[in-house]
Amino acid sequence: MKIAIIGAGYVGLTSAAVFAKIGHKVFITDKDGEKISLIAVGKIPFYEKGLEELAKKMVLRGMLNAIESTEKAVKDADAIFICVGTPTKKSGEADLSQVFSAAKEISKYIKNGAVVVNKSTVPVSTAEKVRDLISKNTNAKFYISSCPEFLREGSALSDTLNPSRIVIGANTHYAKKILVKLHERLPGERVLTDLRTAETIKYASNAFLAAKISFMNEIANLCESSGANVSDVALGMGLDPRIGKSFLNAGIGYGGSCFPKDTRALHSVATLHKYDFKLLKAIIEVNQLQKRRFLDKIEIALGNLKTKRIGALGLAFKNNTDDVRESAALEIISMLMKRGAKVSAYDPLASENAKKILPNLTPRKKPEDVFEKADCVLILTEWPEFKDLAWAKLKLKMHRPLIIDGRNLLNPSKMRKIGFKYISVGRP
Ligand code: UGA
Repeated sequence: MKIAIIGAGYVGLTSAAVFAKIGHKVFITDKDGEKISLIAVGKIPFYEKGLEELAKKMVLRGMLNAIESTEKAVKDADAIFICVGTPTKKSGEADLSQVFSAAKEISKYIKNGAVVVNKSTVPVSTAEKVRDLISKNTNAKFYISSCPEFLREGSALSDTLNPSRIVIGANTHYAKKILVKLHERLPGERVLTDLRTAETIKYASNAFLAAKISFMNEIANLCESSGANVSDVALGMGLDPRIGKSFLNAGIGYGGSCFPKDTRALHSVATLHKYDFKLLKAIIEVNQLQKRRFLDKIEIALGNLKTKRIGALGLAFKNNTDDVRESAALEIISMLMKRGAKVSAYDPLASENAKKILPNLTPRKKPEDVFEKADCVLILTEWPEFKDLAWAKLKLKMHRPLIIDGRNLLNPSKMRKIGFKYISVGRP
C-alpha cells in the first residue's frame, strides 16, 4: 500500500521506517523542512537506538521517501497517518492545532477510498472532529480511524516491531479492514473497536502507567518513615502477575513528553464531561510533590544551598534518550540553581538539549567532572553506565562524600562500604 505520514517526530518517523520495512511505500512529510532534508539523506533528527540505520536502509531502497510537499505525499495514498504533536495548553488541555492543520492540508489532496488514521495522542472525539473538518473541504469519500501508538522513547523501534497490541478504532468496517491489512506483517494482539474507545485506550494506558509510578513513589515515601525497603516491596508486589514487575520503580517522579501532558489532558477531558476524576488529580499532584521532596532531602543534608557545589548525573527524562521535555532532572536542577547552588551536570546524550532549556548550565564532558570539590552528587537519570563509575576514586575528588540517588540506581551497602553517606528513595 502507499502510505503518507504527516509529522516526522518519534511516532511518525518510527512508524514510517517500520511500515517501509514491512513492504509499504511510505512518504513522510513535516512542516520542518530541516527534518525532511535530514531524513531524505538517511539521517534522523533525534537519537533513537537502531532507527537511523533502518531509516537509511529504507531511504536507499526507495521505500521511505521524505518530501516537503504534502500534496505529493497525500494525493494517491491509501492511508494517511496524522502523527503530529499535541502539546499542553496553559489550561492543561491538549492543544490540537497541529492535528487540525494537518487535517486541513490532507483535505486538499485526499483521494477517494483513502483512510485517514490518527496516531497523535488526542482527547476522545477528536477523530470525529478531524472527519468533519476534512469533509467540509473535499468531495472524496474517505474513512477515518484512530490507531494509537504505544512506543516508548529509547526503545521506539523494537516496540513498534514487536507491539504488545495494535489498537484499531473505526466506525466503519472498511477502515478496520484496511488497517488490519496494513499491519498484517506485525505481531501482537489486535484490538478492533470504535473511534472513541481507541482514543480512550491511549489516555487510559498512559494514565494507568503514571498511576503505578505515583503509587510506588508514595509507598517509597511511607517506607522512609516506616523503615521498610521500597525495592523489595516492588519485587514482592511485581511477582504477582496481576500487578506485573514493570513501572514500579520509585524515584523523582515521571517526566517526558507523554505522561505529564497526557495525565493533564485526560483530567481536562474529565472536567469537560463534568466528571471529577479524583485519582487522576492525585497522580498528578504526587508526581509534582515527589520532585519537591527530593529537593527537601538535599536541603536537609546540605543546609542552605547558596554557593554549595552540587554535581548532577543525568539530564534526560529517562535513560537511552536525548529528550529533556518535562525532565524531572532539569526541574530539580533549575530549583537548585534558583536557591543559589552551583550545579555541574553530565548526561551521555542530553547535554545539547538541556542547554536550550537551562542556558546558564554548562554540562560537563565526562561524568567524573561533576565530582570536583562537590558537596554532594545527585543521580537524576537512570543511565546504567553510572553504576560502573570508579566510585571509590571519585569520592576523593569530592568536598564531602555525599550521594543522593533519585533513581535508586546504586547499591546502598556498597556505597556505604566505600565511605559515602548515601541517601536514596524509600530504602533505609
Ligand atoms: C510513555 C509510555 O510508556 C509509552 O507506552 C507511550 O507510547 C508513550 O509514553 C507515549 O505516549 O508516546 P515514554 O514517555 O517514552 O513512554 O517513557 P516511559 O518509559 O514510559 O517513562 C516515562 C517516565 O516515567 C520517565 O521519566 C521514567 O523515568 C519514569 N518512570 C518509569 C519511573 O519513574 N518509574 C518507573 O518504574 C518507570
